[in-house]
Amino acid sequence: MPDAISRKSILVDYVAASKRGQPYTWFNYQPINLPGYEVTLPLAGRNCFDRIQGISQTIEEEFSGQRVRVIDWGCNLGFFAFELARLGHDVVGIDMDRRVVDVCRYLAEHSGLDKPPRFFCDRLNPSSIPLYGEFDVAICLSVFHHLRDDRHATLRKFANQYSRAFIEMDGQDFGQHDLCSYYWRQLSIVQSNDRYGTGTRRRHTWFCSNTFSDSTFQNLKTQNMVGGRGVFRKQQDGVTTVLKRERLSSSHTWIRTDLRHELEMYRAWSHSNFFPNLISCGEDEYDRWIECEYVAEDATANIEALRNFFCFLESNRLFILDVSRDAFLFRGNSLKVVDLESLFPLTGTVQELLDARSKRTGLRLDTYQKQFDYIAGGIKS
Ligand SMILES: C[S@@+](CC[C@H](N)C(=O)[O-])C[C@H]1O[C@@H](n2cnc3c(N)ncnc32)[C@H](O)[C@@H]1O
Repeated sequence: MPDAISRKSILVDYVAASKRGQPYTWFNYQPINLPGYEVTLPLAGRNCFDRIQGISQTIEEEFSGQRVRVIDWGCNLGFFAFELARLGHDVVGIDMDRRVVDVCRYLAEHSGLDKPPRFFCDRLNPSSIPLYGEFDVAICLSVFHHLRDDRHATLRKFANQYSRAFIEMDGQDFGQHDLCSYYWRQLSIVQSNDRYGTGTRRRHTWFCSNTFSDSTFQNLKTQNMVGGRGVFRKQQDGVTTVLKRERLSSSHTWIRTDLRHELEMYRAWSHSNFFPNLISCGEDEYDRWIECEYVAEDATANIEALRNFFCFLESNRLFILDVSRDAFLFRGNSLKVVDLESLFPLTGTVQELLDARSKRTGLRLDTYQKQFDYIAGGIKS
């Protein structure tokens, strides 16, 4: 971009980008739907009108026609920000590319809107998300799949900060495989194409929500995340429970097991003090889930409770194949183990269980003592 931004310089750069881009660059990704910029509408990489129609209609329905606060991460040339500001919403747009943010600010200043969107230059990551405060709804379209190492940490923070969001991302099941770990509900509101390749590439815009029907949900799992599965804290009418859910299409981890096995273990063992109580379970066309007692930690971990637990396992011939520290919750000098997915009755040796259940040839923590030492090493008594 030239130093001094003007309508002419924006248009010159836009047309040049559309000629240069095969099929587009991020500088002509979106149309600019403001008076004087009509030439950009057919030159845009994505038409965007399909997606805004679904988004604005969903906001209208979800908030019963009220004006809401919206944040658009990866706002690009501000198409969604301007369209929503035009409808009276209070909008903030953020992009990491300084050039597009400068253009957005110029467009906002000359838009003639009573309340134009505000734009900031920043990179979406777990630390930047809380800096902008609270919003009723967030938008983040075709950005998450560009994030690398901190994609899951960013999604987790994003879902905790914004209980309703429109998200589009590449990946298995058009991104739903990852999103369902962080948002309880994902509705595909629009399917759209870009001009990439042959035009057969589809993207879904998911309306993701952790707030509905008097219930709020929050992802509880922070380690060993598995796509297609989620563990949520559910709050409804002052009652807190835990919902574990897996998509029927999700594939197995290195252990051949699923929630049906976990349910069996809950049924068999949740009367013992070491596991949360089972409350309910269910299955529909897409998902199966189990609901169990919520257990809050209070950092009173003690080694005695841990020793008792491993004695219990040994005396009942039970073995946890995939033992992980985040499954052990300590409270009031007792403990609850909240992950029963890899808990198995031991009919022969650990090696025989491993052979029957996985393709792994060996297990690092293959005795009760090694498992005890591993968990004990991670707690402060
Ligand atoms: C593929 S375009 C999508 C634009 C727009 N969200 C849409 O779907 O029409 C990606 C945009 O996100 C921005 N972006 C990519 N990674 C980002 C990050 N980590 N933080 C903020 N913006 C990012 C890019 O500069 C670009 O403008």
